[in-house]
Amino acid sequence: MQKLTSSELRTQYLNFFKNHGHAVIGSASLIPENDPTVLFTTAGMHPLEPYLMGEKHPLGKRLVNVQKCVRTGDIDEVGDATHCTFFEMLGNWSLGDYFKKESIHFSYDFLVNVLKINPKDLAVSVFEGDGDSPRDVDSAGYWVSEGLSPEQVYFLPKKNNWWGPAGLTGPCGPDTEIFIDTKKPKCSPDCSPACDCGKFIEIWNNVFMQYNKTAEGKFVPLDNKNVDTGMGLERTICILNGYKSVYETDLFIDAIKLIGSEASAKYGESEEATRAIRIIADHMRTATFIIGDERGVTPGNIDQGYVLRRLIRRAIRYARKLSIRVSTLWELAELYVGQYANVYGELERNKAGIISEIKKEIEKFEKTLNGGLKEFEKVAAITTGVIDGAAAFRLYDTFGFPVEITEELAKDKGLTVDRAGFDAAFVSHQQKSQAGAEQKFKGGLHDHLDETTRLHTATHLLQAALRRVLGEGVFQRGSNITAERLRFDFSFGRPMTSDEISETEKIVNDVIKAEIDIVLEEMSVEEAKNKGALGVFESKYGEIVKVYTIGGFSKEICGGPHAKNTRELGVFKIEKEQSSSSGVRRIRAVLINGEL
Ligand code: ALA
Repeated sequence: MQKLTSSELRTQYLNFFKNHGHAVIGSASLIPENDPTVLFTTAGMHPLEPYLMGEKHPLGKRLVNVQKCVRTGDIDEVGDATHCTFFEMLGNWSLGDYFKKESIHFSYDFLVNVLKINPKDLAVSVFEGDGDSPRDVDSAGYWVSEGLSPEQVYFLPKKNNWWGPAGLTGPCGPDTEIFIDTKKPKCSPDCSPACDCGKFIEIWNNVFMQYNKTAEGKFVPLDNKNVDTGMGLERTICILNGYKSVYETDLFIDAIKLIGSEASAKYGESEEATRAIRIIADHMRTATFIIGDERGVTPGNIDQGYVLRRLIRRAIRYARKLSIRVSTLWELAELYVGQYANVYGELERNKAGIISEIKKEIEKFEKTLNGGLKEFEKVAAITTGVIDGAAAFRLYDTFGFPVEITEELAKDKGLTVDRAGFDAAFVSHQQKSQAGAEQKFKGGLHDHLDETTRLHTATHLLQAALRRVLGEGVFQRGSNITAERLRFDFSFGRPMTSDEISETEKIVNDVIKAEIDIVLEEMSVEEAKNKGALGVFESKYGEIVKVYTIGGFSKEICGGPHAKNTRELGVFKIEKEQSSSSGVRRIRAVLINGEL
């Protein structure tokens, strides 16, 4: 195997695909521009969705890049050998150009002839087939013609060999995944790449994107057959160099050394110390990239800002556990900025902001941390089993403890937290502060809250109406509401006709006239998805989400607030329909007081 550094692997990958006719494109922002269903860019294909859906890409049908990604779903695994919350994905795409055969050939050629991986050390999985898509005997055959033996090819079900969509809807398909076989003995006769015993380590995933998944869960064939691949930079470097974990690679080693030089327990001394040091290294790297992004955000209480806050506060907590000076945390950010400056220039440009935001967040949390820990000890001392939601909410509201931190502290003591109770306290607090805001505006210049609430409900009606008129490929891409108007961005490839616009208006106004109650329910994300609700995919405050239903017409996961009955809306009027960006249209609409 080639012992490559991270920058050598980036260059070799890009050059290999460039030499095979692929145009090199830059990494997109970590904050998705047109997809409200996920908080962060989670894969290289995500910013390319319009092109995978058929839009023409200005640079052609073959693309390659290195994409910054954040995935927080596996945050509890961070600290093991391979999981990170931020990572770089090496990806190549065919937009309706080559398909399985060439894609598999490129991957084999790159792994075996460029990275010099012994083909005997590879294992691959392919899709075993089901009602949505047939058994992928083609891919299996191509792997064998490249030089793998049939024993190295595993057929696995959808749960393992299907990728996407990245959000609720969008392009997806069966995939073939490529693994390094560490040659450890099989843990059982059934041991396969699906097993997490550590024998097989995944390095690359080639997705054959032939379907668009609709909100109803249907798989509609795409006009173009695309290829979407993703290779994890950190993992591949780790394997090529024979390291035990990604934290030994050049991407992390200096950070680990810096933290280790400060920590009361040394890296490698105990599993606990090693894990804590890795968590600090991982979380501060991710924080650096989120703040330093070209569309960077700062710590806050919602959305990306909340994830960022959790990461920094969790790093602070582990830093204290190891008696590390908190200044080490911004020194780590400085270190990462320097280390990545050649690849991600935005970090260098935003350096001052990164450092000051981290300092500010540390100061904020440090002020309440001791008090919060004392409060937690008090609560824990009188709790057996489950910490109640109100206590967890007090730790959040008064002491700035993200509920996930309270859960971790609880776990150390063999306790759990009543998450549903926490969420309920959270929602009721939100409603109270909204009531407060309402109070403040009453008698003022405008009753802003009422206006925006009605427009918010109108947005749900608009989305449902557009999906009826234009089809189920329509999906919200953005929304912006002021007291005067709503603005709604949605996926659709051409201007609407005037008939379609009037039809949409008519449907919305019919629902308004039908005087339908808007029903709010709280349920798990899973349940909401099963009930066909549209909306934000990644849950932010836990498993419980709010779902607003308007008769049989609309169902969306949403934070609210909403009108109580559609009759409050008045008359709905679309003022403008125009292009927003490639494959995305924008509607501006208003509500007029009165009756039709
Ligand atoms: N989009 C595919 C993945 O993330 C390549 O694995």
